[in-house]
Amino acid sequence: MNRLYINPLPVRIWHWTNALGFILLIASGLQIRYLDLIQWMSFRTAVVAHNWIGFVLIANFFVWLGFYLFSDKIKVYHPELSPAKYFRASFRQMQFYGYGIFKGDPNPHHPSAYRKFNALQSMMYQIIMMLLVPIQFFTGVLLWDVARFSSIVERLGGVRVVDTVHVVLFILFSGFIIVHVYLASLGHTPSAHFKAMITGYEEIEDEPKQDAAS
Ligand code: HEM
Repeated sequence: MNRLYINPLPVRIWHWTNALGFILLIASGLQIRYLDLIQWMSFRTAVVAHNWIGFVLIANFFVWLGFYLFSDKIKVYHPELSPAKYFRASFRQMQFYGYGIFKGDPNPHHPSAYRKFNALQSMMYQIIMMLLVPIQFFTGVLLWDVARFSSIVERLGGVRVVDTVHVVLFILFSGFIIVHVYLASLGHTPSAHFKAMITGYEEIEDEPKQDAAS
């Protein structure tokens, strides 16, 4: 078993702050949206907490962005430019998650410090971090002070449009977290990826030795 330093400290700090923040944002957001059904706290506390946590996570996003922009580890987010190669790798990974894993097949992706994501993670994390998270923060800031940002809100189609985008993304993120945590439990042991996001080190299983006769 080898150890590979895969998650540098800034990524780990960003990630767990972000995960906790998203859970709190979802909880307070649910109460703000469904006031009749959920009353975990007073409405005012939910709004104030939602705004504050939102701003903390926006600042935290720049920890993630700054780390990757100013280090060569940005390579882990470089997309695969050959569509054929990308689709082959995605298909292999889907086959593994949907079938191979239940037969005990080895994971087709072998992580390294600069290629830690498999094809599916790579696409998913790019969309989440470079598109959906920024849109969620942007619409959140607009809704935080609609009067101040009224000209931008109007240009985007009004409060209803901005609010709908914010709520649709909230539903997507809630679903993403469930799938993400499930997939994160599919390491060589159920806790392997979680430990790697805490300690920084991923344990890499040795390749099975080829029989000399085969
Ligand atoms: C309970 C909540 C969460 C848990 C337990 C969790 C767990 C993990 C684990 C174990 C990893 C490392 C293995 C892997 O890459 O799959 C990871 C990576 C990652 N997670 Fe999460 N996560 C959570 C919430 C979130 C949320 C809310 C987001 C974004 C909105 C997120 C975005 C990411 C990203 C982008 C990575 C790759 C980070 C990098 O190396 O740059 N996670 N997560």
